[in-house]
Amino acid sequence: MRIIVARDYDEVSYKGANLIAAQIMLKPNSVMGFATGSTPEGTYQELIRRYEKGDISFKDVVSFNLDEYVGLEKDDPQSYHHYMMHNLHNFTDINKQNIYLPDGKAADLLKECKEYDSKIESYGGIDYQLLGIGTNGHIGFNEPAETISNDTMVISLAQSTIDANKRFFEKEEDVPRQALTMGVGTIFRARKVLMLVTGEGKAEILEKVLFGDITPQVPASLLRMHPDFTIIADEAAAALVKNRI
Ligand code: F6R
Repeated sequence: MRIIVARDYDEVSYKGANLIAAQIMLKPNSVMGFATGSTPEGTYQELIRRYEKGDISFKDVVSFNLDEYVGLEKDDPQSYHHYMMHNLHNFTDINKQNIYLPDGKAADLLKECKEYDSKIESYGGIDYQLLGIGTNGHIGFNEPAETISNDTMVISLAQSTIDANKRFFEKEEDVPRQALTMGVGTIFRARKVLMLVTGEGKAEILEKVLFGDITPQVPASLLRMHPDFTIIADEAAAALVKNRI
C-alpha cells in the first residue's frame, strides 16, 4: 500500500490524473474502472485537459463503472451514466461502444449483474480501478456488512449513504433506495487500485481504513490486503493519520 498526501483537492486531482494518465500511456487499451461522486470530478477535468493537450488518448480505453442506481434512466441527470458522460466521456475520444455501466433499469436485475461480471471478465478483468470512499467506509456501494460480496449485486443503500447523497437530489425521498454495485471481489481483482480521499469529513474513516481492523464493517479496510493499492489523500482527510504514515 502506498499513501500520498497532497495539499488540497486540486493537488489530489492533479496527482490522481498523473497516475491514470501514466496507466493509459503504458497500456492504451487499459480496462479502467471508474467511480462517480464529488471526489473524482477534478481528476476527470485534469484527464480531459491532458487529452486536449494530446498527452493521452482514450481511443482504445475500455471503461467500466462501479455502480448505478436502480430505477433511473440512463439520461436521468442523477444517473451515473449521465454523470460519466458529462464529467468525462463526452469530452474524450473514447469509443462509445467501450463504455459500460450496470443498467439500473434492467427488467431482470440479477441477470444484469451476472452479465456485467461476464463482460468485465471478457476483457480480462480491470487493469486500473479508481475509487472514492463513503464516510461509512463503503467502496462502490458495498456498504458495511457482516460478509463480503464477491460479484456485482443489487444492494439497499445504507441510511448514511442516503444522507450523504441526498445533496445531489432535490429531496431525500428522491434518492433511489437500491443500486447495482460491483462486489468487493470484483474490485479486489483489479490489478491496481487507486483511492482518492478528500476533505475533513473523510478523516475519521481514513484513520479506520489505515489503522483499524480489516473488516467488512469497513469495506475499504479490505484493500489493505490488495497487492497494488494506492491512496491519495489531501491534508484535511489525512489530518488524523499524517504523523503515523
Ligand atoms: C461512486 C461510488 C461511491 C463514492 C463514495 C464517495 O461511484 O461508488 O463509493 O465514491 O460514496 O462519494 P463522494 O466522492 O461524493 O464523497
